[in-house]
Amino acid sequence: MKRQGFGVIVMGAVSLGAGVGCKSSKSAPEAVAPPAADAKNALRAVSTFASIADEKARSAALFVEAGRVISHPRCVNCHPADGVPRQGMDLRPHVPAVTGGPSGHGTPALPCTSCHQERNTPLVGATLRGVPGNPKWALAPAEMAWVGVPLGKICEQLKDPARNGGKSLEALHHHMAEDVLVGWGWDPGPGLEPVPGTQRAFGELIRAWIDTGAACPSP
Ligand code: HEC
Ligand code: HEC
Repeated sequence: MKRQGFGVIVMGAVSLGAGVGCKSSKSAPEAVAPPAADAKNALRAVSTFASIADEKARSAALFVEAGRVISHPRCVNCHPADGVPRQGMDLRPHVPAVTGGPSGHGTPALPCTSCHQERNTPLVGATLRGVPGNPKWALAPAEMAWVGVPLGKICEQLKDPARNGGKSLEALHHHMAEDVLVGWGWDPGPGLEPVPGTQRAFGELIRAWIDTGAACPSP
Protein backbone atom coordinates (compact mmCIF):
# COMPACT_ATOMS: atom_id res chain seq x y z
CA MET A 1 0.00 0.00 0.00
CA LYS A 2 2.71 2.43 0.95
CA ARG A 3 4.25 2.28 -2.51
CA GLN A 4 1.16 3.41 -4.36
CA GLY A 5 0.75 6.64 -6.22
CA PHE A 6 3.54 9.08 -5.72
CA GLY A 7 5.66 6.50 -3.95
CA VAL A 8 5.79 4.43 -7.08
CA ILE A 9 7.14 7.33 -9.09
CA VAL A 10 9.77 8.06 -6.49
CA MET A 11 10.89 4.44 -6.55
CA GLY A 12 11.11 4.55 -10.33
CA ALA A 13 13.21 7.64 -10.29
CA VAL A 14 15.84 6.27 -7.97
CA SER A 15 15.85 2.56 -8.67
CA LEU A 16 18.57 2.94 -11.28
CA GLY A 17 20.89 4.32 -8.62
CA ALA A 18 22.37 2.37 -5.78
CA GLY A 19 19.10 1.88 -3.97
CA VAL A 20 19.21 5.27 -2.34
CA GLY A 21 15.44 5.47 -2.30
CA CYS A 22 15.14 2.41 -0.12
CA LYS A 23 17.39 3.76 2.58
CA SER A 24 15.58 3.02 5.78
CA SER A 25 18.41 3.09 8.29
CA LYS A 26 17.17 4.39 11.57
CA SER A 27 20.46 5.84 12.73
CA ALA A 28 23.46 7.61 11.22
CA PRO A 29 23.22 6.47 7.62
CA GLU A 30 26.18 8.72 6.74
CA ALA A 31 28.49 6.68 8.96
CA VAL A 32 28.22 3.71 6.62
CA ALA A 33 29.45 5.48 3.55
CA PRO A 34 30.81 3.25 0.75
CA PRO A 35 28.50 0.18 0.73
CA ALA A 36 25.73 2.15 -0.90
CA ALA A 37 23.70 -0.98 -1.51
CA ASP A 38 21.22 -0.43 1.28
CA ALA A 39 21.14 -3.06 3.97
CA LYS A 40 17.40 -3.53 3.72
CA ASN A 41 17.74 -4.71 0.19
CA ALA A 42 20.83 -6.88 0.56
CA LEU A 43 20.69 -10.60 1.27
CA ARG A 44 22.72 -11.87 4.20
CA ALA A 45 25.66 -14.02 3.14
CA VAL A 46 25.66 -17.76 3.81
CA SER A 47 28.53 -17.28 6.31
CA THR A 48 26.21 -15.22 8.50
CA PHE A 49 24.37 -18.42 9.37
CA ALA A 50 27.45 -20.45 10.37
CA SER A 51 26.82 -19.66 14.02
CA ILE A 52 23.63 -21.75 14.04
CA ALA A 53 25.03 -25.06 15.29
CA ASP A 54 22.00 -27.22 14.59
CA GLU A 55 22.11 -28.09 10.91
CA LYS A 56 18.37 -28.38 10.47
CA ALA A 57 17.77 -25.03 12.13
CA ARG A 58 20.54 -23.51 9.99
CA SER A 59 18.99 -24.94 6.84
CA ALA A 60 15.56 -23.53 7.69
CA ALA A 61 17.12 -20.14 8.52
CA LEU A 62 18.91 -20.09 5.15
CA PHE A 63 15.58 -20.75 3.45
CA VAL A 64 13.90 -17.94 5.38
CA GLU A 65 16.58 -15.55 4.10
CA ALA A 66 16.14 -16.81 0.52
CA GLY A 67 12.42 -16.48 1.19
CA ARG A 68 12.80 -12.70 1.19
CA VAL A 69 13.15 -13.13 -2.57
CA ILE A 70 10.65 -15.95 -3.04
CA SER A 71 7.86 -14.22 -1.13
CA HIS A 72 8.52 -10.82 -2.74
CA PRO A 73 5.66 -9.50 -4.89
CA ARG A 74 7.94 -9.51 -7.99
CA CYS A 75 7.93 -13.30 -7.77
CA VAL A 76 4.56 -13.98 -6.13
CA ASN A 77 2.64 -11.87 -8.69
CA CYS A 78 3.34 -14.51 -11.32
CA HIS A 79 2.68 -17.51 -9.08
CA PRO A 80 -1.10 -17.43 -8.37
CA ALA A 81 -3.43 -20.41 -7.97
CA ASP A 82 -6.33 -18.94 -9.94
CA GLY A 83 -4.72 -18.20 -13.30
CA VAL A 84 -4.87 -14.43 -12.76
CA PRO A 85 -1.53 -12.60 -12.59
CA ARG A 86 -1.12 -9.99 -9.87
CA GLN A 87 0.50 -6.55 -9.99
CA GLY A 88 2.38 -4.19 -7.74
CA MET A 89 3.41 -4.49 -4.11
CA ASP A 90 -0.20 -5.14 -3.02
CA LEU A 91 -0.75 -8.15 -5.30
CA ARG A 92 -3.79 -6.55 -6.93
CA PRO A 93 -5.35 -8.40 -9.87
CA HIS A 94 -3.74 -7.65 -13.24
CA VAL A 95 -5.24 -4.78 -15.25
CA PRO A 96 -6.40 -5.38 -17.94
CA ALA A 97 -8.07 -8.65 -16.92
CA VAL A 98 -6.01 -11.52 -18.32
CA THR A 99 -5.61 -15.19 -17.51
CA GLY A 100 -2.70 -17.52 -18.05
CA GLY A 101 -4.80 -20.00 -20.03
CA PRO A 102 -3.82 -23.66 -20.30
CA SER A 103 -0.18 -22.93 -21.18
CA GLY A 104 0.42 -19.95 -18.91
CA HIS A 105 1.12 -17.82 -21.99
CA GLY A 106 -2.36 -16.30 -22.05
CA THR A 107 -5.33 -17.03 -24.26
CA PRO A 108 -5.07 -17.12 -28.07
CA ALA A 109 -6.96 -13.84 -28.23
CA LEU A 110 -4.72 -12.14 -25.67
CA PRO A 111 -1.34 -13.77 -25.20
CA CYS A 112 1.02 -12.24 -22.64
CA THR A 113 3.34 -11.34 -25.50
CA SER A 114 0.83 -8.95 -27.01
CA CYS A 115 1.98 -6.57 -24.26
CA HIS A 116 5.01 -8.11 -22.54
CA GLN A 117 8.02 -7.92 -24.85
CA GLU A 118 11.37 -9.65 -24.53
CA ARG A 119 12.63 -6.81 -22.38
CA ASN A 120 11.21 -4.17 -20.07
CA THR A 121 9.54 -1.50 -22.15
CA PRO A 122 9.29 1.99 -20.70
CA LEU A 123 6.25 3.91 -21.80
CA VAL A 124 7.57 7.20 -23.07
CA GLY A 125 5.53 10.25 -22.27
CA ALA A 126 2.92 8.29 -20.31
CA THR A 127 2.12 8.28 -16.63
CA LEU A 128 2.23 4.48 -16.64
CA ARG A 129 5.73 3.32 -15.80
CA GLY A 130 6.04 0.71 -18.48
CA VAL A 131 5.51 -2.92 -19.27
CA PRO A 132 7.83 -5.51 -17.76
CA GLY A 133 9.35 -7.93 -20.24
CA ASN A 134 11.35 -11.12 -20.55
CA PRO A 135 11.74 -13.75 -23.29
CA LYS A 136 10.09 -16.37 -21.03
CA TRP A 137 7.21 -14.21 -19.75
CA ALA A 138 4.33 -16.54 -18.74
CA LEU A 139 2.24 -17.39 -15.72
CA ALA A 140 3.47 -20.18 -13.44
CA PRO A 141 1.21 -23.25 -13.31
CA ALA A 142 -1.33 -23.44 -10.49
CA GLU A 143 0.51 -26.21 -8.64
CA MET A 144 3.39 -23.75 -8.18
CA ALA A 145 1.08 -21.20 -6.55
CA TRP A 146 2.61 -18.88 -3.97
CA VAL A 147 -0.07 -16.17 -3.62
CA GLY A 148 -1.38 -16.40 -0.05
CA VAL A 149 0.80 -19.43 0.73
CA PRO A 150 2.99 -19.23 3.87
CA LEU A 151 6.73 -19.58 3.25
CA GLY A 152 7.00 -22.94 5.02
CA LYS A 153 4.36 -24.38 2.71
CA ILE A 154 6.05 -22.88 -0.36
CA CYS A 155 9.22 -24.60 0.83
CA GLU A 156 7.53 -28.03 1.03
CA GLN A 157 5.93 -27.49 -2.36
CA LEU A 158 9.25 -26.48 -3.95
CA LYS A 159 10.77 -29.80 -2.88
CA ASP A 160 7.86 -31.85 -4.22
CA PRO A 161 8.51 -33.02 -7.83
CA ALA A 162 4.73 -33.39 -8.28
CA ARG A 163 4.37 -29.67 -7.71
CA ASN A 164 7.66 -28.18 -8.93
CA GLY A 165 7.65 -29.30 -12.54
CA GLY A 166 9.42 -32.60 -11.81
CA LYS A 167 12.58 -30.91 -10.58
CA SER A 168 15.30 -32.51 -8.48
CA LEU A 169 16.85 -30.28 -5.84
CA GLU A 170 19.77 -29.74 -8.23
CA ALA A 171 17.42 -28.66 -10.99
CA LEU A 172 15.63 -26.42 -8.53
CA HIS A 173 18.92 -24.78 -7.60
CA HIS A 174 19.78 -24.31 -11.26
CA HIS A 175 16.41 -22.69 -11.91
CA MET A 176 16.76 -20.29 -8.97
CA ALA A 177 20.40 -19.42 -9.69
CA GLU A 178 20.39 -19.29 -13.50
CA ASP A 179 16.91 -18.93 -14.98
CA VAL A 180 16.49 -15.69 -16.93
CA LEU A 181 12.86 -15.24 -15.90
CA VAL A 182 13.81 -15.59 -12.23
CA GLY A 183 16.61 -13.11 -12.99
CA TRP A 184 14.04 -10.53 -14.12
CA GLY A 185 13.23 -10.06 -10.41
CA TRP A 186 16.50 -8.15 -9.98
CA ASP A 187 15.90 -6.02 -13.07
CA PRO A 188 12.16 -5.43 -13.17
CA GLY A 189 12.25 -2.13 -15.03
CA PRO A 190 11.05 1.37 -14.27
CA GLY A 191 9.04 1.91 -11.11
CA LEU A 192 9.16 -1.64 -9.80
CA GLU A 193 11.12 -2.51 -6.66
CA PRO A 194 13.64 -5.28 -7.37
CA VAL A 195 13.81 -8.36 -5.14
CA PRO A 196 16.54 -8.23 -2.45
CA GLY A 197 20.23 -8.88 -3.08
CA THR A 198 21.55 -10.42 -6.27
CA GLN A 199 20.66 -13.61 -8.11
CA ARG A 200 24.14 -14.89 -7.26
CA ALA A 201 23.65 -14.34 -3.52
CA PHE A 202 20.20 -15.91 -3.80
CA GLY A 203 21.68 -18.94 -5.59
CA GLU A 204 24.29 -19.30 -2.85
CA LEU A 205 21.61 -19.32 -0.16
CA ILE A 206 19.65 -22.00 -2.03
CA ARG A 207 22.85 -24.02 -2.53
CA ALA A 208 23.62 -23.86 1.21
CA TRP A 209 19.99 -24.68 2.05
CA ILE A 210 20.18 -27.84 -0.09
CA ASP A 211 23.61 -28.79 1.29
CA THR A 212 22.27 -28.58 4.84
CA GLY A 213 19.37 -30.94 4.13
CA ALA A 214 16.81 -28.54 2.61
CA ALA A 215 14.87 -28.18 5.85
CA CYS A 216 11.72 -26.07 5.79
CA PRO A 217 10.71 -23.40 8.30
CA SER A 218 7.43 -24.11 10.07
CA PRO A 219 4.60 -22.52 8.11
C1 HEC B 1 -3.08 -5.96 -22.65
C2 HEC B 1 -1.72 -5.88 -22.17
C3 HEC B 1 -1.23 -6.98 -21.24
C4 HEC B 1 -1.38 -8.34 -21.37
C5 HEC B 1 -2.07 -9.11 -22.47
C6 HEC B 1 -0.69 -8.93 -20.25
N1 HEC B 1 -0.16 -7.94 -19.47
FE1 HEC B 1 0.84 -8.22 -17.72
N2 HEC B 1 1.05 -6.20 -17.50
C7 HEC B 1 0.66 -5.26 -18.42
C8 HEC B 1 1.06 -3.94 -17.95
C9 HEC B 1 0.82 -2.62 -18.66
C10 HEC B 1 1.72 -4.13 -16.72
C11 HEC B 1 2.34 -3.06 -15.82
C12 HEC B 1 1.32 -2.40 -14.99
C13 HEC B 1 1.93 -1.45 -13.98
O1 HEC B 1 3.09 -1.66 -13.61
O2 HEC B 1 1.24 -0.56 -13.55
C14 HEC B 1 1.68 -5.56 -16.46
C15 HEC B 1 2.19 -6.14 -15.34
C16 HEC B 1 2.24 -7.50 -15.12
C17 HEC B 1 2.74 -8.11 -13.93
C18 HEC B 1 3.17 -7.38 -12.68
C19 HEC B 1 4.63 -7.25 -12.41
C20 HEC B 1 4.79 -6.76 -10.98
O3 HEC B 1 5.48 -7.42 -10.23
O4 HEC B 1 4.18 -5.74 -10.60
C21 HEC B 1 2.65 -9.47 -14.09
C22 HEC B 1 3.07 -10.53 -13.11
C23 HEC B 1 2.09 -9.70 -15.39
N3 HEC B 1 1.83 -8.48 -15.99
C24 HEC B 1 1.87 -10.93 -15.91
C25 HEC B 1 1.20 -11.16 -17.10
C26 HEC B 1 0.98 -12.47 -17.66
C27 HEC B 1 1.49 -13.77 -17.05
C28 HEC B 1 0.28 -12.30 -18.81
C29 HEC B 1 -0.28 -13.36 -19.72
C30 HEC B 1 -1.04 -14.41 -19.09
C31 HEC B 1 0.07 -10.87 -18.97
N4 HEC B 1 0.66 -10.21 -17.92
C32 HEC B 1 -0.61 -10.28 -20.02
C33 HEC B 1 -0.03 -5.51 -19.58
C34 HEC B 1 -0.45 -6.75 -20.05
C1 HEC C 1 6.45 -13.59 -15.47
C2 HEC C 1 6.06 -14.60 -14.54
C3 HEC C 1 7.04 -15.13 -13.52
C4 HEC C 1 7.77 -14.41 -12.63
C5 HEC C 1 7.87 -12.92 -12.50
C6 HEC C 1 8.44 -15.37 -11.78
N1 HEC C 1 8.12 -16.64 -12.16
FE1 HEC C 1 8.79 -18.37 -11.34
N2 HEC C 1 7.80 -19.44 -12.76
C7 HEC C 1 7.10 -18.92 -13.81
C8 HEC C 1 6.73 -19.98 -14.72
C9 HEC C 1 5.98 -19.81 -16.04
C10 HEC C 1 7.22 -21.16 -14.18
C11 HEC C 1 7.09 -22.57 -14.76
C12 HEC C 1 8.02 -22.79 -15.91
C13 HEC C 1 9.38 -23.09 -15.50
O1 HEC C 1 9.60 -23.92 -14.59
O2 HEC C 1 10.33 -22.51 -16.10
C14 HEC C 1 7.90 -20.80 -12.94
C15 HEC C 1 8.52 -21.70 -12.11
C16 HEC C 1 9.30 -21.35 -11.03
C17 HEC C 1 10.00 -22.29 -10.21
C18 HEC C 1 9.94 -23.78 -10.38
C19 HEC C 1 9.52 -24.59 -9.24
C20 HEC C 1 8.30 -24.21 -8.45
O3 HEC C 1 7.88 -25.06 -7.68
O4 HEC C 1 7.75 -23.10 -8.50
C21 HEC C 1 10.70 -21.57 -9.29
C22 HEC C 1 11.61 -22.10 -8.21
C23 HEC C 1 10.45 -20.17 -9.56
N3 HEC C 1 9.58 -20.06 -10.63
C24 HEC C 1 11.02 -19.15 -8.87
C25 HEC C 1 10.76 -17.80 -9.10
C26 HEC C 1 11.38 -16.71 -8.36
C27 HEC C 1 12.38 -16.87 -7.23
C28 HEC C 1 10.90 -15.55 -8.89
C29 HEC C 1 11.23 -14.14 -8.52
C30 HEC C 1 12.62 -13.75 -8.45
C31 HEC C 1 9.98 -15.93 -9.97
N4 HEC C 1 9.92 -17.29 -10.04
C32 HEC C 1 9.28 -15.02 -10.75
C33 HEC C 1 6.76 -17.60 -13.97
C34 HEC C 1 7.27 -16.54 -13.24
